[in-house]
Amino acid sequence: MAETILITGANRGIGFELACAFLTRGWQVLTCCRDPEQAADLQRLDAESGKVEILRLDVAEPDQIATLTAALAGRPIDILFHNAGLFGPRDQAFGNTDPEQWLEVFRVNVIAPQKLTESLVENVAGSGRKTVAIMGSQLGCIGDNSSGAWPIYRTSKAAAHMLMRTLAFDLKARGITVVAFHPGWVRTRMGGAEAPLEPAEAAAGLTRQLLSLNPADSGSLIHMDGRRLGW
Ligand SMILES: NC(=O)c1ccc[n+]([C@@H]2O[C@H](COP(=O)([O-])OP(=O)(O)OC[C@H]3O[C@@H](n4cnc5c(N)ncnc54)[C@H](OP(=O)(O)O)[C@@H]3O)[C@@H](O)[C@H]2O)c1
Repeated sequence: MAETILITGANRGIGFELACAFLTRGWQVLTCCRDPEQAADLQRLDAESGKVEILRLDVAEPDQIATLTAALAGRPIDILFHNAGLFGPRDQAFGNTDPEQWLEVFRVNVIAPQKLTESLVENVAGSGRKTVAIMGSQLGCIGDNSSGAWPIYRTSKAAAHMLMRTLAFDLKARGITVVAFHPGWVRTRMGGAEAPLEPAEAAAGLTRQLLSLNPADSGSLIHMDGRRLGW
């Protein structure tokens, strides 16, 4: 039977290319997005392959997590990929940080991966591969911060790395491998036009890493090129 990956924020950017990469490998791809009716690229992918399921999920909405979980009851999920992310306002310089916007970024980048994992843990535990992946970022690596700036995004991704590490221990007894990834600097709406990597290149690297994971990798922050990153 085909293996299954669930990807949040799959309608554009890296999440969309990740969906394409796994589809090409014959996987069953559960693509989650806030607005399926507007997800033109996913609809096209489904029309071409007939193998894409497009599911409504705003990861910050508990009711939508509950509805999705009920719809997926009993279905194994080999890889649960928390990709959906927010950068926050472009201007988040010292003296110009808004607490509500900061909390919204934390709701999406940190709290949502915990709550969605709690909700779908039986699906992951009942799969063959038993993997949870959280999209981190090198901008969240404390030892790597030599320039300051972007406190909202940086703190959220540092917290996402800590969440991954905590989940790795909390889910060890269920045989679940939990990792975080840095996808590189990628030319998406978030990454901007100056970024050197195409989303498809980042997705190809992430796919390679995902498919070569083993339980000993649990708790690691992994660059899409395979390097293990420090905190
Ligand atoms: N690009 C980079 O250089 C880079 C580097 C390091 C890490 N990352 C991380 O990689 C991930 C993907 O980023 P990207 O570059 O592909 O960015 P992107 O093009 O801006 O895509 C972000 C995705 O997240 C979704 N999203 C945001 N809030 C959501 C919510 N509440 N519920 C569900 N989906 C939501 C967006 O959906 P809508 O279309 O509905 O807004 C979109 O699909 C993020 O976690 C990001 O932090 C990116």
